[in-house]
Amino acid sequence: MKILTISGSRNPDGKTATMTEALLKGAEKKGAQIRRHFLPSEHVESCRQCDERGWGDCLAKGSCVIADDFAGIVDEIRDSDAVVFASPVYFGDLSESLRAFTDRLRRILRHESAKPGIEGKPAIGVCVAGGGGGGAPNCIVSLEKVLRTCGFDLVDVIPVRRQNMDLKGPVLEMTGEWFAGRGKQS
Ligand SMILES: Cc1cc2nc3c(=O)[nH]c(=O)nc-3n(C[C@H](O)[C@H](O)[C@H](O)COP(=O)(O)O)c2cc1C
Repeated sequence: MKILTISGSRNPDGKTATMTEALLKGAEKKGAQIRRHFLPSEHVESCRQCDERGWGDCLAKGSCVIADDFAGIVDEIRDSDAVVFASPVYFGDLSESLRAFTDRLRRILRHESAKPGIEGKPAIGVCVAGGGGGGAPNCIVSLEKVLRTCGFDLVDVIPVRRQNMDLKGPVLEMTGEWFAGRGKQS
């Protein structure tokens, strides 16, 4: 199973990465191959709301006019068997980089031509409130909403706060093992 990880954190050694890696460790036990993207280190711009109605090529063609790393990452989603979306909790919500990516993704997916390889694809969402610890439930609701709008088969969403990382680490590892093993069981 090929799992693509798309993180809204810049830090490959931070709390979001630590929790995501716990999940991926479990998936690797089932033989999963992992590819990772850290969006703040890549070039993914915000939606330009191109025309006066707020739409653009997203609605008309299922693509985006902005020439950056977005389309390549979308192709990698299509090439993967499952996707893990991870975000640090910022202001009780998604990080700006993951918001920018998912905002554009849900737009292109309004067009039928963009759906193959994404609609129905298994996905898991993780968010980590690493400061005071508040806002994880709201952030995970935001993530669930946008990923469902995109049409993913969202099999789980897991909120983590700094104060329960020791509990959630093993839970995430078990979840990853279960996630990567699902296909073989069904
Ligand atoms: C702009 C900003 C807003 C933040 N808002 C919250 C918050 O609402 N709740 C919280 O617990 N932590 C908050 N934090 C702390 C981050 O959740 C914490 O830094 C993150 O989990 C760790 O980042 P990393 O996983 O990328 O290392 C915020 C951090 C930043 C930079």
